[in-house]
Amino acid sequence: MNWFEQWFDSQYYHILYKNRDSKEAAFFIDNILNIITVKKNQTFLDLACGTGRHAVYLNKKGFRVKGIDLSKQSLIQAKKYENETLRFELQDMRRFSFKEKYDVVLNLFTSFGYFENNDDNQQVFQNVEKALKKNGYFIIDFLNVHKVANNLQVNEKKIVENIEFNIKRTHDTKFIYKHISIIDAENSYSFTEKVRMIQKKEFIIYSKNSRMKLLHTFGDYALNKYNSESSNRLIMIFQKI
Ligand SMILES: C[S@@+](CC[C@H](N)C(=O)[O-])C[C@H]1O[C@@H](n2cnc3c(N)ncnc32)[C@H](O)[C@@H]1O
Repeated sequence: MNWFEQWFDSQYYHILYKNRDSKEAAFFIDNILNIITVKKNQTFLDLACGTGRHAVYLNKKGFRVKGIDLSKQSLIQAKKYENETLRFELQDMRRFSFKEKYDVVLNLFTSFGYFENNDDNQQVFQNVEKALKKNGYFIIDFLNVHKVANNLQVNEKKIVENIEFNIKRTHDTKFIYKHISIIDAENSYSFTEKVRMIQKKEFIIYSKNSRMKLLHTFGDYALNKYNSESSNRLIMIFQKI
């Protein structure tokens, strides 16, 4: 099993990140909706939707939304919000395909770059291109690898629900790693999150190979300008040609 299949589905991931922010998700989505041209009833696909915080908010705003994710545990939570115009499904972003085409595909909160094989990253872009209608948007919200690598907060300790999480961050030339050691009563566990250090220029190559063009680049959820040294995020809006 790959690390991302185990870690995101484990109870400890859900405990550690139980306060993941739905206000932040709403703020970001509202800002995005001021930039792209979409009408009520148009369709969104949230790729790696997690528990559905962006998908649920978009649906409340009147859009038809499908969320896909590889984590059964996340989908159990997301499915509580399902209705006729909001659906969640277990799918792998490296292989998904639908008959339906979407107006907007989202990939948010560093849900990219997990794979050992770089071809899988390109494959995700190809899949997105197939899933989009002509002129549809692909919005990707990734970490800014320059800032993260230069400002690694190396060690962090958190206690959540009496469980101790010791987090150690490192990087090499290819990946940023988050080593998570867990002590839960008598038991201890460890997981390692691993995200490829993908720069803006590499995303542009994936997009060009997949008939998409870059429209906008932003550096945070308020959609301020991207600066490779100081921005927290790398947020890109692509459009299918
Ligand atoms: C950092 S979380 C972000 C979740 C959500 N977008 C959010 O903002 O809360 C990354 C998500 O990617 C999902 N994921 C990882 N690999 C995947 C894959 N190959 N296909 C689909 N989802 C995947 C994980 O299960 C996890 O829910």
